[in-house]
Amino acid sequence: MRTLRVDLGERSYPIVIKRGLLSEIGSGASGLGLKGRAAVVTNPTVADLYADRVMKGLKAAGFNPVLITIPDGEEYKSLNEASKVYDGLVKHRMERSSPIIALGGGVIGDMAGFVAATYLRGVPYIQIPTTLLAQVDSSVGGKTAVNHPSGKNLIGAFYQPKAVYIDPEVLKTLPERELKAGMAEVVKYGVIWDEGFFEFLEKNSGVLYSIGRELTHAIERSCEIKAEVVGKDETESGLRSILNLGHTFGHAIEAASGYGTYRHGEAVSIGMVMAVGFSARLGLCGTEIEERVRGLLSSLGLPTDAPDIPAEALMEAMRLDKKVSGDKLRFILVTGLGKVVLKETPEAEVREFLLSLKKG
Ligand SMILES: NC(=O)c1ccc[n+]([C@@H]2O[C@H](COP(=O)([O-])OP(=O)(O)OC[C@H]3O[C@@H](n4cnc5c(N)ncnc54)[C@H](O)[C@@H]3O)[C@@H](O)[C@H]2O)c1
Repeated sequence: MRTLRVDLGERSYPIVIKRGLLSEIGSGASGLGLKGRAAVVTNPTVADLYADRVMKGLKAAGFNPVLITIPDGEEYKSLNEASKVYDGLVKHRMERSSPIIALGGGVIGDMAGFVAATYLRGVPYIQIPTTLLAQVDSSVGGKTAVNHPSGKNLIGAFYQPKAVYIDPEVLKTLPERELKAGMAEVVKYGVIWDEGFFEFLEKNSGVLYSIGRELTHAIERSCEIKAEVVGKDETESGLRSILNLGHTFGHAIEAASGYGTYRHGEAVSIGMVMAVGFSARLGLCGTEIEERVRGLLSSLGLPTDAPDIPAEALMEAMRLDKKVSGDKLRFILVTGLGKVVLKETPEAEVREFLLSLKKG
């Protein structure tokens, strides 16, 4: 078992990582001083697999848990669905001290976190992430949100959980495509923060998907890096933006190709290769770094080539994203493995780079 800590003063919390942890959530939660009613928010897919184990553990620890499910899918990360969760909480008379327990991937975590931030002006919540993406990224750091019809995550709050409980065993039931998509975020930590971790991933790319101790180590190191970054910049006023490596290009690919074509992690994988390629073009790093990032992602079964989308459509999508100031676009660029800089780049340079990809 590994226990990490997100250090945020009185909002600090533990991230506990242990194989088989799912059955022990109840005692963990009561150890945090929580008791009484608890609402487990999940979806039918995850509920069928894991709700029993979590509910039993909560009951054994003296909780009186109820299960609230929302349908499975990004399209249900909405205010409308959140409103139904509030209805459930009111119906079950959840009080200020009753914890909400998010059991699922990033969709459930973001939405249950948002509900926890707003129900009765804030109730405690616990993250039990069940996808790789949620375990290494979305469950840590307190970004909660629902989508608006005109954009993803437009309605939300920074609201930290009381604890994050990660059981790598649950990844055994995760569809392969989801597992791979989550791995893009793992690689991202190596690129932005830790060359040694990047090398570890290169060395172990053949065994990571067997969900053994190498993957557990990768989850631990990813969480450790995210915790350190969030501990230094909770609300993304500076350092935290380095976690967006590959996301400006990635979001543009997701938007311009129509949401649903790519999993978020797949778009980030392509976006990361583009960001490193752009960095090399601007002379910030050598092309060998681009080759290593591309090589690692592709050995992990992730896409690395930009789809055939006109440069102008990508430019338009990037302008609509949140990372724009004036006629400059904001990018996290790479100066070496484990080293990045935030750079505002004139649109013309970005367009030229995109056009160069078409020629290449
Ligand atoms: N808050 C943040 O910091 C942050 C960061 C990155 C992404 N996100 C958000 O995360 C969301 C994407 O999350 P995701 O990739 O986890 O997708 P997801 O939550 O939709 O889960 C993917 C699929 O896997 C299923 N699933 C989950 N766990 C399973 C398991 N153990 N076994 C079998 N099936 C399982 C889900 O039911 C779903 O069908 C997006 O809404 C994105 O905006 C948030």
